[in-house]
Amino acid sequence: MSIELSSEAPRCHRADAREPGGYLSALGDSRAHLLLTDPPYCLLTRRRKGGDERDPRAHKKIDRNPIVRFETVKDYRVFTEAWMTRAVSWLTPEARLVIWTNLLGKEPITTVARQLGYTHLLGEYVWGKRTTDKNANEQLLRVYEVALVFSRTPLPPLGPGEAPTVWAVVGGYDDDAEAQQWGNHPHHKPFSVLEPLVRTYSRPGETILDPFAGSGSTPAAALRLERRPACMEIEPEWAERVTHRLRGVAGHSR
Ligand SMILES: C[S@@+](CC[C@H](N)C(=O)[O-])C[C@H]1O[C@@H](n2cnc3c(N)ncnc32)[C@H](O)[C@@H]1O
Repeated sequence: MSIELSSEAPRCHRADAREPGGYLSALGDSRAHLLLTDPPYCLLTRRRKGGDERDPRAHKKIDRNPIVRFETVKDYRVFTEAWMTRAVSWLTPEARLVIWTNLLGKEPITTVARQLGYTHLLGEYVWGKRTTDKNANEQLLRVYEVALVFSRTPLPPLGPGEAPTVWAVVGGYDDDAEAQQWGNHPHHKPFSVLEPLVRTYSRPGETILDPFAGSGSTPAAALRLERRPACMEIEPEWAERVTHRLRGVAGHSR
């Protein structure tokens, strides 16, 4: 690796993204150049208001199933407001927001980003997840989640010699077998899916903030591409696993 990222091994802080402590531990007095994160999706507890819960067990955030459910979309917006307001206060003014969401989460996330001054939705990055369909003549791609890219300012027009922004990627759930290696997090993101986002919206040596690290796919991709990861995760076992994963990546690149 050509860049000296840090004398200290990177780690994932066990913290709540709505509270200040994790940001302070992860960033100290520095600021991040990109927010690239994958918060809990807008999954509701009930199919309709007052109806039965979809899965009463889903409330219990257990290891290997760190799923959070919300009573209503309004509750999800309140949650989004709490963490996003906190996170953007740790960014440089030019930083972009790249936020993964399921389709129901697009509206609340866009509303909150706009309220915070990120008035330009530059686009929607789509992960076409390769299915295991065996029909020899066609390949089905499933879209479950997209990453919304926000900026405070519009994109300048593309010069004739410049490469266009990538807005879609195709990949299986775990083409590189990293999910399997790192606990099979239900919302794991493969390196090949994250790589265009890291390369497009940050430069080597810059800091990438991920307050919802899960199994650590984003901070691991950041480190692999010579960026500084600043991350946290609320579940202690996952936070510990991410720290272990980052130490492995840092060890490989020295
Ligand atoms: C969608 S997953 C992230 C998956 C991750 N991108 C990966 O590749 O493994 C969201 C993560 O946020 C964590 N989480 C939920 N609420 C949180 C909070 N308030 N603060 C920090 N982390 C939280 C969950 O435990 C879960 O691991």
